[in-house]
Amino acid sequence: MLKNTLLIKMLPLAALVVVFGSSAIGCTDTKDPTTTTTQQPTTTSQAPTTTTLPDVPGEAVYEGMYTYDDFKKPETCGICHQTIYSNWQETLMAKSFVHTWDDVEYFELALPHAMELDKVSGVKSGCISCHGPLAFLSGDIPPSRPSANTRANEGVSCEMCHSITGSTEAEPFNFSAIMDLGDTKYGPRDDSRSSFHNTAYSEFHGSPEQCAICHDEQSPYGAWVKETYREWSGGYYADQGTVCIDCHMETTSGVAGMGGQQRDDLAVHTFYGPHNNEFMANTMQLTASADTQQASKGNEVNLSVDIYSGECGHSFPSGSSEERMLWLEVWATDSAGNTFHLPVNTTGFDGEEYTVADSSALAYSDIGPIMGLDNFEGLSRDGNVPDGARIFRRPFLNPDGEMTVCQWYTASNTAVDYRFAPRETKQESYTWQLPQNVASGEVKIDFNMYFSTVPSSVGDFFELPEHDYAPKIVGSDSITINVN
Ligand code: HEC
Ligand code: HEC
Ligand code: HEC
Ligand code: HEC
Ligand code: HEC
Repeated sequence: MLKNTLLIKMLPLAALVVVFGSSAIGCTDTKDPTTTTTQQPTTTSQAPTTTTLPDVPGEAVYEGMYTYDDFKKPETCGICHQTIYSNWQETLMAKSFVHTWDDVEYFELALPHAMELDKVSGVKSGCISCHGPLAFLSGDIPPSRPSANTRANEGVSCEMCHSITGSTEAEPFNFSAIMDLGDTKYGPRDDSRSSFHNTAYSEFHGSPEQCAICHDEQSPYGAWVKETYREWSGGYYADQGTVCIDCHMETTSGVAGMGGQQRDDLAVHTFYGPHNNEFMANTMQLTASADTQQASKGNEVNLSVDIYSGECGHSFPSGSSEERMLWLEVWATDSAGNTFHLPVNTTGFDGEEYTVADSSALAYSDIGPIMGLDNFEGLSRDGNVPDGARIFRRPFLNPDGEMTVCQWYTASNTAVDYRFAPRETKQESYTWQLPQNVASGEVKIDFNMYFSTVPSSVGDFFELPEHDYAPKIVGSDSITINVN
């Protein structure tokens, strides 16, 4: 989005670039003889595709093409861009390498797996391209763990986003960036001036395609294991012209940096997402109803709830869908304070068993061999979601057909997708036969949608900080009936 009035001078078109399947994950380079590109691409080998690219400044990125010293530290940018810097520091993208679960999943699962199984060996550097791009681009693979405090810790830094000028892919994925790292910082305006660096307007900057470079991912088995951009581009908001930053960045007034112009549409770098309680609250609208207001013990009461995903630009959950948990709990509380959990009525669609909480179901047993654990049978598939609750999920299956949280080890994930598309309404129903022990008087029935970033069983097993994956309510409704 051009933030100023002048017309964009479109650069002359068309360099013809040949792109091989996995694009930038350490395997497309033909220019740099010094880079070792012995690792496998992270995608299944595909026929090469040919893409016509706009002539953007910079070149396609590859492992080891820069050194850490080529990147300025975010602190340096923060000297002048103080507010942007302090906002960015709070984002998950600033913590994309140091965040506990990222650290654990890479160093305790993905890296050991990559060393042992040829097919997934590319993730050794693949994960780092998006989560620690400075390390990837500097050839520091595998990087040291966050405690060593290397520059991998800077995560998705200012320099990273503001040097991306394009992608080798029309619909980017797997860190298929084109970068021009140097004195010019690319951004949304054509009239900003800084004494510290050159500035340039870039049409690509802030486009959904810029985000897609890291927000869409294909596994070595060819499965789309992240497709936030693809979900968005096929949906209502893309048709309306509402892009990622319209929802994930706010605007405010002030100056972008010391010495900058006063503006009333400054980009705020908050990038809120599932780790932010306020952003998540009320993302779903629930409307519950019962077929009767009055019932006697032993009667059947039919309940129904419409759940509308009205805020989300893509599927909900999106991104790391292999491990995101979104579920509906329905609890009745009688006048004496007794509580009853109501299981959802099943409808019999293919794969429905994955969408109904079952405390006896195990999954994720591939963690055992990867970590060298003997007799590891797996973890509770649904964690502490009460039996019979509806789970809105897209199960990822490994080559053995078992549910996995290892997205790189995902062979298929298209058979069942019971998530919400943008602006989709789903209806769930509940048949409750009033038990004899329900107290007479008013019974309140609460419908709560919960979201958590990983199943509690996985969080507990890896001893992740509980506040990080604790369930939050993202929508609710309640009704009352009278029991006599
Ligand atoms: C000495 C102060 C200073 C430092 C240090 C600084 N900038 Fe800037 N930057 C500015 C000023 C002033 C502007 C112009 C703001 C305006 O006019 O609204 C600017 C503008 C920008 C823009 C907007 C470009 C556009 O055309 O839309 C970006 C992006 C940017 N800076 C990124 C960075 C990054 C990344 C760093 C660290 C490598 C950095 N800046 C360091 C002062 C600085
Ligand atoms: C995930 C990518 C990303 C990261 C990381 C990032 N930015 Fe930005 N930045 C953007 C986008 C996108 C916009 C433009 C939004 C728009 O078009 O309204 C922007 C806009 C800006 C602007 C222009 C603001 C304006 O409205 O004039 C400046 C200056 C800037 N960023 C500096 C920084 C600095 C400094 C950092 C690090 C502390 C940083 N950015 C980190 C994506 C990023
Ligand atoms: C260089 C790669 C990269 C680019 C470019 C990028 N992201 Fe991200 N983004 C990440 C990674 C990695 C994470 C996950 C961080 C984590 O969970 O540790 C993430 C996480 C997020 C989250 C989730 C925050 C949360 O609370 O969990 C949002 C929202 C987000 N990005 C928005 C954007 C938008 C909007 C753009 C485009 C303007 C963008 N990103 C561009 C790599 C990138
Ligand atoms: C209409 C507003 C809207 C648009 C447009 C939008 N998002 Fe979101 N996004 C949301 C909301 C609301 C959530 C919280 C619900 C959720 O977690 O999916 C969210 C969640 C996310 C998450 C976390 C997903 C998860 O469940 O872990 C990421 C990452 C993200 N968005 C990135 C993007 C990217 C990249 C784009 C553009 C391709 C985009 N968003 C477009 C509103 C939007
Ligand atoms: C193409 C870029 C890309 C690649 C490659 C990638 N990730 Fe991510 N990763 C992301 C983005 C973007 C998110 C945020 C999605 C969301 O918020 O739902 C994310 C989220 C995560 C999360 C969830 C963090 C949380 O907030 O709960 C973990 C853990 C993770 N990645 C680990 C890895 C590992 C390990 C690998 C290598 C096997 C890897 N990633 C490869 C981009 C990537």
